Amino acid sequence: MLVCGPAIEALGLLPDGCAQTVVTSPPSWSLQDHEAGGQIGCDDALESYERGIVMAFDQVRRLLADDGTVWVNVVDSHTPGNHKYRAQDRKNRASATFVHPPALAELKPKNLIGVPWRLAFALQSAGWWLRSEVIWHKPNARPESLTDLPTTSHETVFLLSKSQNYYYDTAAVKGPNGRRLRTMWDINTEPHNKSDSGTDDHPSVMPKTLARRCIQITSRTGDIVLDPYAGSGTTLIAAQELGRNWAGIELNPAYVDLIQRRVALGAG
Ligand SMILES: C[S@@+](CC[C@H](N)C(=O)[O-])C[C@H]1O[C@@H](n2cnc3c(N)ncnc32)[C@H](O)[C@@H]1O
Repeated sequence: MLVCGPAIEALGLLPDGCAQTVVTSPPSWSLQDHEAGGQIGCDDALESYERGIVMAFDQVRRLLADDGTVWVNVVDSHTPGNHKYRAQDRKNRASATFVHPPALAELKPKNLIGVPWRLAFALQSAGWWLRSEVIWHKPNARPESLTDLPTTSHETVFLLSKSQNYYYDTAAVKGPNGRRLRTMWDINTEPHNKSDSGTDDHPSVMPKTLARRCIQITSRTGDIVLDPYAGSGTTLIAAQELGRNWAGIELNPAYVDLIQRRVALGAG
């Protein structure tokens, strides 16, 4: 099932308890313009960005199985300093900044905002169990042009659960040397122009390896995997490859077309 529309509305179409796990990367706050009316993250205040995701996640909790989980990948950003907009880079579209974050009264310029943790605390306050912080380390991260801080080479992925006890298969994915999986995951970014569809139509694509790993750990064959901010459909395609059913929501009709093309190509 693929719905084109705002997550907060489309989630209401899904029945209670239908999904086992969610793997999603909501739009970052203030980093990218996904060119669709009603998108979150582009010109909201940080508080309304958080509130929008928390409200959507209230719906997500309703339609998760009682032993269901959410993997949510969130990107951090800085308060504006003196830097200009960063131009789009064909090889690394995610590195571009199209939007300047609105100033935050409580933070001086050039401060790392801590968006992932602020959102995690908001979700925790809204009733989710915050179970783990996974560091997605990108061994192939490209150098950045900023000269007064280390190059960022990771993103954060939180594991949330609906209940205290939940489905989690430790044997599904092992770490190096067959050890139990640690919280630091080395996964290269996968440029979309090398993806299954042969297209380059989405600026911030999650590596399929990351989506697959999350799905394998917290769902079984035949379960429904949901992504309410589906983008190019990486989670949905990974789910299909793994024999899961899937439900996806995406606001931008052009990305919905992209998902349909990827699925039709058998990219999952
Ligand atoms: C970071 S991207 C997701 C990328 C995806 N994980 C992938 O691998 O392709 C976030 C997506 O959320 C979509 N989006 C923004 N606001 C939305 C909303 N209110 N409801 C649903 N989708 C939204 C954007 O159009 C964008 O495609």
